Amino acid sequence: MTLRYLPDAGRLYGPDFARDPQAVYAALRERHGAVAPVEIAPGIEAHLVIGYQAAVDVLTNADGTWSKDARDWQARLPDTPEAAAMIGMLGHRPTPVYSDGADHARYRKVTTDCYSMIQPHKLRNMVIEVSDSLIRRFAATGSADLVVDFAKPIPLRIFNRLLGRPDADSADLISALSDMMEADGEAGARGTEAFNRYIGEVLASKYADRGDDLTSWFIDHPAKLDTEELVQQVVVTVAAGFEPMASLISNTISRMVSDDRYYNSLSNGALSTYDALLEALRAEPAIANFGPYLVRKPIEFHGTWIQPGELVLVSYAAANTEPTGLPDELRSDGGAYLGFGAGPHRCPASDPAMLIAMTAIERLTAHLSDLELTVPREELPWRPGPFHRSLANLPVRFTPIRPDRPGESPWSASSAATDQAPSGYATSAPWSS
Ligand code: HEM
Repeated sequence: MTLRYLPDAGRLYGPDFARDPQAVYAALRERHGAVAPVEIAPGIEAHLVIGYQAAVDVLTNADGTWSKDARDWQARLPDTPEAAAMIGMLGHRPTPVYSDGADHARYRKVTTDCYSMIQPHKLRNMVIEVSDSLIRRFAATGSADLVVDFAKPIPLRIFNRLLGRPDADSADLISALSDMMEADGEAGARGTEAFNRYIGEVLASKYADRGDDLTSWFIDHPAKLDTEELVQQVVVTVAAGFEPMASLISNTISRMVSDDRYYNSLSNGALSTYDALLEALRAEPAIANFGPYLVRKPIEFHGTWIQPGELVLVSYAAANTEPTGLPDELRSDGGAYLGFGAGPHRCPASDPAMLIAMTAIERLTAHLSDLELTVPREELPWRPGPFHRSLANLPVRFTPIRPDRPGESPWSASSAATDQAPSGYATSAPWSS
């Protein structure tokens, strides 16, 4: 494969990028303008769209220039472990993320119809139950790693319930996904196998016995997805949702507990959790760089020639932080900018995602009113990788809460002191009316 962009390509891998990605974006902006050459892994190149207007042009795709089908790019990849690792995130699958036109419209309709059947008040109660049961596990200890003990288990337990599985199965999903995402080699392969088994079991159980859950709604949707499409629809929900959901929660908490404007005691802190979420979505979006986007014919785009078969990624993180000279309050999106994408592939789950994050963080900060980081924020460890902005750990301490008598914990007032699955979601499907 020709390394035609090197040697001044930016590196979106390794410890330097994980520590300070904004420094890499600033250097690229200075050297290349709106579109910059990068390596997403050793020897794997891409064009990174870092200008705000250029990012909006790709995402809105008004003239149909851009395709999400990256099979031409995939076909040119070298046979290396680095390339194989990138296919996991960017390789073609029959889901909305990797398709265009009529295929995209069909998958997207299934996704948006079924997500819209999740009723906000039921989801909120579910998040309260899950958050409280997690907080209960560490509240008496006075310390926690809020990535491991809180932010990661929340989406997994929620997805497990939304997909219609009993709580007991959420442990399987958690261990399969953490092996799959954090480990290499054998453990990674075991994780992938366990994840596939979990998805297979979810679908088999719902084929046999439908319920009020996402899996059953996917199966019964009039688009009549075949089995492979159904598997991919469940996979994309968990895969597209889990990582960014966990990172949105932990990135936001890390800002709140290290910035007096948000939270420095139970009684003060002028800005809200919602403000903190918007700031995290703007300055440190959980999906930092993603795509794939390809052109069908050569084009000159914001000063750079792009050929068919070349990978293009959009940097939500760099575009959001491009210096504009304008005050933030002029933005019509309240500060979130491109944190959930834009255009036809914009995140179809931004409303439930915000509700999950806000409810979980408010539960945490309501119960533990003096959370503080055990290390300065600048020293928190970030996970390396080109696509996410994601903390590896979020160590905090707080005054332990020790309920004197059973039944008097601060959370027992919620309707949701148990871990039972909620009953009943929507009563009618959007496609049946
Ligand atoms: C409930 C959790 C979530 C679910 C189920 C979910 C699901 C999805 C799906 C299915 C897509 C693909 C849409 C398409 O291609 O038409 C998508 C796109 C996207 N999501 Fe989410 N998402 C979730 C949470 C989040 C969060 C927390 C963030 C960021 C903070 C996020 C950021 C994005 C972005 C930036 C895109 C656009 C990607 C692109 O341009 O190709 N999502 N999401």
